[in-house]
Amino acid sequence: MADKPFLTDIKTLRERARKHIERGAVTEGYTADRETVIKLLNEALATELVCVLRYKRHYFMATGINAEGVAAEFLEHATDEQGHADQIAARIVQLAGAPNFNPEGLLTRSHAEYVEGDTLTDMIKEDLVAERIAIDSYREMVRYFGNDDPTSRRMIEGILAVEEEHADDLVNLLGELK
Ligand SMILES: [Fe+2]
Ligand SMILES: [Fe+2]
Repeated sequence: MADKPFLTDIKTLRERARKHIERGAVTEGYTADRETVIKLLNEALATELVCVLRYKRHYFMATGINAEGVAAEFLEHATDEQGHADQIAARIVQLAGAPNFNPEGLLTRSHAEYVEGDTLTDMIKEDLVAERIAIDSYREMVRYFGNDDPTSRRMIEGILAVEEEHADDLVNLLGELK
């Protein structure tokens, strides 16, 4: 075994944990900039909520010979994005923040856009663009959270992997429609 001492001695750990118990999960060892983390997570929340709305719109508006399978995919993605929004909101609360569900300014806080699209192909393309925006912004968040907030990082990593699956689904759908 390498001679790598455990970082903090048990007595100090125990003493520290007793201070500010009202802060719950946010301990003295939390080294991230909490305000910034909450702001970024609120942007991610807005992104997910806009994606729910866009996918729902596309689900209800999907028409044409290929509509059935595509609509089912839209609905599945809408449900996934709602799950992501819930995960992110819960994490914000754990960090003693407040999740921003205010419809006013939602699109400004969101990284992804809300584009309705006229045809099935337009809708899929717009969803794909939105996924690609989310993928890049989540990858940046993962890097920013790093080891300062591993829980937020792992949550966003998990969501990122699903957005990558979504993008892959959409590219396959586009291929099938050609
Ligand atoms: Fe999502
Ligand atoms: Fe997605």
